[in-house]
Amino acid sequence: MSLTHFRSADQSAPASRRVTIQSLQDKKTQGRPIVALTAYDYATARLVDEAGVDFILVGDSLAMVVMGYENTLPVTMDEMLLHTRAVRRAVKQAMVVADMPFGSYQVSNGEGVANAVRFVKQAGAQAVKVEGGASRIDLIKRLTDAEIPVMAHLGLTPQSVHRMSGYRVQGKSVTAIHNLVKDALAIEAAGAFAVVLEGIPTEVAQRITAALHIPAIGIGAGPHCDGQILVLHDLINLSFSAPAKFVRRYGDAAALITDAVNHYRDDVEGRQFPGEEESYHLGKDALAALLREEGTARLKA
Ligand code: KIV
Repeated sequence: MSLTHFRSADQSAPASRRVTIQSLQDKKTQGRPIVALTAYDYATARLVDEAGVDFILVGDSLAMVVMGYENTLPVTMDEMLLHTRAVRRAVKQAMVVADMPFGSYQVSNGEGVANAVRFVKQAGAQAVKVEGGASRIDLIKRLTDAEIPVMAHLGLTPQSVHRMSGYRVQGKSVTAIHNLVKDALAIEAAGAFAVVLEGIPTEVAQRITAALHIPAIGIGAGPHCDGQILVLHDLINLSFSAPAKFVRRYGDAAALITDAVNHYRDDVEGRQFPGEEESYHLGKDALAALLREEGTARLKA
């Protein structure tokens, strides 16, 4: 097949506006902040993409904010694929990164590669994210060899909730800081194109960000990272829990939805909905025929 026969995956977005690994790297080089959010479904992914974020993470946080689990551990590959497909269908410009769920890459690197291939092939993800440092080096190399871009995730890694004895800020001792820096340099050398730094002190994130050539995206890691990511449901008050210290609420979707549903219920109960403008009517001829038929029926009865 000649090059002229290649069609881009998304015909509707000009290639120049689509976010790529190179454009994320350029932002780091130019000191322009990278903006990222999670999204898990078509509607929110469309809104987030149209607002112009750089990448959308289909995070395993969906286990908690969409499925109501206590932590991220139960969500499965099939569930993550379903949500990634929905997001992929919505997104025209942002890079779509699929979060590899717990159990999909911890058993063996071979299984990890096979599952990452599913995200790319069956759901259209452009990259995958895996949690962990030194222990993921071989996996990151194998994924990169398989042409699958990898985002790493260091610091507070929610899939390690039991080992960490809860969600705790990481990298607070000098030894822990050295280990984090070592991990960050190792995942970069292994081929990761970016790293999420979660729940670590600002001073530590600043040093890791400066030491890396690849973009470092912070969540609860202070303002000196190359970019920031938040869970969409936290941003818009849809996560039914007290926000973590690092969350800023930019809207109140809970209030908006509650208000709309209360109003709808009141209108239905008070026979205010549907009104004339929300109703269909028969055409004149059809109505006349119906009335004639009903009149005849009444006479015969
Ligand atoms: O699953 C998720 O939403 C994440 C982000 C918090 C980075 O991993």
